[in-house]
Amino acid sequence: MIKDELIHLLQNKHANIAVVGLGYVGLPLAVTFANAGFTVTGIDPIESKVEMINRGESYISDIPTAQLRKHTDNGRIQATSDYSVLSEIDAVSICVPTPLHKTGDPDMSFITSASEAIAPYLHRGMIVVLESSTYPGTTRELVLPSLTAHSDLVVGQDFFLAFSPERVDPGRTDFTTYNTPKVIGGITSACTEVASAWYAKALETIVPVSSAEVAEMTKLLENTFRMINISMVNELAQMCDKLDI
Ligand SMILES: NC(=O)c1ccc[n+]([C@@H]2O[C@H](COP(=O)([O-])OP(=O)(O)OC[C@H]3O[C@@H](n4cnc5c(N)ncnc54)[C@H](O)[C@@H]3O)[C@@H](O)[C@H]2O)c1
Repeated sequence: MIKDELIHLLQNKHANIAVVGLGYVGLPLAVTFANAGFTVTGIDPIESKVEMINRGESYISDIPTAQLRKHTDNGRIQATSDYSVLSEIDAVSICVPTPLHKTGDPDMSFITSASEAIAPYLHRGMIVVLESSTYPGTTRELVLPSLTAHSDLVVGQDFFLAFSPERVDPGRTDFTTYNTPKVIGGITSACTEVASAWYAKALETIVPVSSAEVAEMTKLLENTFRMINISMVNELAQMCDKLDI
């Protein structure tokens, strides 16, 4: 069975991993997978980032150059701008940006273009996980149709698709990519199973949930919760300032 073969490959760490988008989220994730013993290919359209990574130079403050270089020197991490490497890849994490428009709604163009770029290389026995912050419904309504636009592969059977939000809290050193509990929700239960088997090999705690939409909603809840807390503390700080407290 395709699912069992892929899980076996992931659990043995023989699966080839790709991380699409090598920014604040993608590069630490690539290093976390490499720390666990996976071989990781990073994909990013910005040539200068690709070149720096291949020279073993980090541009992300959370990742010391020495840590990255250890993995580039032993061939565990390499980077490219060429999506065709995905034909040899078993598992892909998408970590592209989702900035907000002036009107407050998210710019989905990066997720769409990344999904369209992966689509020609989608093959049997592949898993794709979206990590970018986004609205509930994105994985099923936007990513799934883009990935399968030119193929008849069946999700949950031939290939697997899940959402797993990146929850890194910038500036914190006690919770990192490795030990922040990882929520995972698949398009089908088989998708959740494969994604959880993969991430469990590299991260400390996996929290499988019942669907991609549930996983997407947990991220929206967390971001809203943080925004309200930060806003309240900012208001109180200004008030305290005025009261000389
Ligand atoms: N930075 C954080 O603290 C944080 C925390 C939690 C969640 N997130 C979410 O994670 C996602 C990524 O954020 P980030 O901070 O890493 O962004 P970033 O801008 O630091 O990195 C994104 C990377 O994706 C690359 N990229 C853009 N389009 C691409 C494409 N089509 N194919 C491949 N690569 C592409 C960019 O060149 C860039 O290197 C966003 O949805 C963000 O909201 C970020």
